Amino acid sequence: MTHSPVRFGVLGTGRITRRLIADLQSTPGASVSAIASRSGDRAKWSADSHGIAAAVEGYAELLARDDVDAVYIALPPSLHHEWTLAACQAGKHVLCEKPVALSAAQVSEMIAAANSADVRFLDATAWLHHERTDQFRQWLTTTGPQEDSAKAAAKKDDLFDDESESDDEAIPFRLGPLRHLSASVSFPNPFLDGDHRLHASLGGGALLDLGWYSAGLIRFASGVLPKEVYAQAVMRGEIVARVSATMIFYDELTATLSCGFDTSTRKWFEIAGTDASIVCDDFTRPWAEKPARSWVHEASGKVHSFVPPSEVNVPAEPNSAPEGGVPVHRCLQERVMIGTLVRWIREGAPSGQPAPWNAFHEQALHTQTMLDALDESIRRKQPVSLG
Ligand SMILES: NC(=O)c1ccc[n+]([C@@H]2O[C@H](COP(=O)([O-])OP(=O)(O)OC[C@H]3O[C@@H](n4cnc5c(N)ncnc54)[C@H](OP(=O)(O)O)[C@@H]3O)[C@@H](O)[C@H]2O)c1
Repeated sequence: MTHSPVRFGVLGTGRITRRLIADLQSTPGASVSAIASRSGDRAKWSADSHGIAAAVEGYAELLARDDVDAVYIALPPSLHHEWTLAACQAGKHVLCEKPVALSAAQVSEMIAAANSADVRFLDATAWLHHERTDQFRQWLTTTGPQEDSAKAAAKKDDLFDDESESDDEAIPFRLGPLRHLSASVSFPNPFLDGDHRLHASLGGGALLDLGWYSAGLIRFASGVLPKEVYAQAVMRGEIVARVSATMIFYDELTATLSCGFDTSTRKWFEIAGTDASIVCDDFTRPWAEKPARSWVHEASGKVHSFVPPSEVNVPAEPNSAPEGGVPVHRCLQERVMIGTLVRWIREGAPSGQPAPWNAFHEQALHTQTMLDALDESIRRKQPVSLG
């Protein structure tokens, strides 16, 4: 069956749109039909630069258009809640930039608005859609005890002759029960005065802007909220410039989070179990000229290096052909993310199963809940319990 493309309208003309518009235009099943700015001139300049048919003055005017099926909200964080609610009301699907909002209460309202309007909502946290992240998801299934007696007994009788068993067998290590998670995301960037990241009223500060990634990784690996967090911050005027935090989870799991605007570029994590740890030095977005790599260090000292299956033997230049060979493609996480949203829009909710977007909604809501608790801990200068 052939489908007409899902037509996106873009709200905002800032830095991220330069990259994401190209991704929207090059993802099969998606197109960009309009872009809106507070200024008609800026909308026209941006539409002309990207080859977009309609330049629109005003975000509400874009939402009223019939040639827009979905919106990409690329505005400062303080505006995500308002324009997501307005988009849902207008019956448009939503791809919303991170951090999703200023508080978990806002995120809950955004998800509820999308569900009640029966439109799809997805936050633009692209690393969650990378093929490498699927490897992490698979490896995280090996956090059980080393020798599961029920499974071992079942193996003898070949009762577990199913897909999950063979996947498990294919993983050459076990993490063992999770013990510690650590995520650090920062970059040293003295923003220009007007940048929204330097203004608390626009949702600025490193906690929301970069803590979104660190907290998101910790939630991704743990799958749950911590019991207690304690955070300290270095302030720059009214905004948080750097955060260092610890967390305690169920069982004996702990986590450390770091993020900041004044530290060398870091996009690292370590997921440590009793038997092995996963290490990745660019989880938010693979370094431009390197494959999407990660490592597993076993307790014995043995080290496994991984790249995702589609990037095995990929040359340094993305999407180029090896000598005499067929073109190979790196996993481009933004396009996978957009493709996922397009699929959800076309296919609707599956019958008899949980909707696939629920897990992404819960990840976003929990991430923002952690950021709320970290913010409270910074302000109160004491540990905060999450109930
Ligand atoms: N830049 C990146 O690399 C990057 C990466 C990942 C995620 N993001 C996320 O994407 C969102 C936008 O980031 P950005 O870097 O593109 O920001 P930006 O360059 O400051 O652009 C934001 C756009 O929002 C519109 N806007 C509306 N009201 C505004 C206000 N009061 N102050 C400033 N701008 C206002 C402006 O467009 P008009 O005036 O034309 O309407 C502006 O161009 C943020 O949530 C950010 O976290 C950015």
